[in-house]
Amino acid sequence: MENKYDEPHIAEIYDQIEKKTDDIPLLLKLIRQNHLHKILEPFCGTGRILLPLVEAGFDLVGIDQSKSMLQRLESRLQEQNLKAKLIHADVLKTDWPREFDLVILGGNSFYEFGSGSEQELCIKKAAESLKSDGFVYVENDNMEGKLDKSWQVIETKEHWFPSGVCKDGTRLETAVTTKSFDENERIWQAERVTEITYPDGTKKTIIQETQTHPSSAVDIQKWLEKYGFEVLGKYSGTKQEPYFSGCKRAIFWTQKKLS
Ligand SMILES: C[S@@+](CC[C@H](N)C(=O)[O-])C[C@H]1O[C@@H](n2cnc3c(N)ncnc32)[C@H](O)[C@@H]1O
Repeated sequence: MENKYDEPHIAEIYDQIEKKTDDIPLLLKLIRQNHLHKILEPFCGTGRILLPLVEAGFDLVGIDQSKSMLQRLESRLQEQNLKAKLIHADVLKTDWPREFDLVILGGNSFYEFGSGSEQELCIKKAAESLKSDGFVYVENDNMEGKLDKSWQVIETKEHWFPSGVCKDGTRLETAVTTKSFDENERIWQAERVTEITYPDGTKKTIIQETQTHPSSAVDIQKWLEKYGFEVLGKYSGTKQEPYFSGCKRAIFWTQKKLS
């Protein structure tokens, strides 16, 4: 498995659970207002964001490390007779394609990384893959400063992602146990144990060690400015509510500064 989404039943549970849609009208508004067309979405997954944008007529390229997530997206595109280019790769290890009008780093994608340097690298790669006046959209939960107290508890959470029942009757049950954390570095380490029970009663256990570095709007803004972006909009919600220090969500709408 390349990552925690890289198993067909896990990808199916992701789609059952992740029903967020409020970012799509905001993205469509920003894309249309700025007459953008060529869009890159790293971490495209099963297409929660990518698919409605293709449906709306835009030209999309998606990158994702999980074949299982991409296969679900590919079949949805085929079902709807739509086209998008999908690249199976680790965003940190591959060169991103270039000359885009917009790069979308949405859907809490920075939770996928265990360090600020990996999150920063994504902003750098976004800058490189955009046209000289291109835009980047970044949306994540916001945790400024130290690791939030709610993450500083050594405990096991039962029935965590991915847990549920798939269409073919396969059951997934996941427990996530916090192993350690670093309050000052804002790092959380855990073990994720997923038990898969197939309809014939056979079982498979997947054990994964994970490290997460919840992202901070303060860091993200610093990196955006370092790689030449001007912050045009900074919001605490998808209705473009103003950002305030300590808000739970941070959305950046930024454009590369002409040099
Ligand atoms: C939370 S899902 C988000 C999917 C989609 N953007 C959405 O909002 O529903 C995160 C996705 O990032 C992908 N991913 C995680 N680490 C990655 C990496 N290093 N390179 C490429 N994709 C990665 C996972 O496979 C997964 O599909």
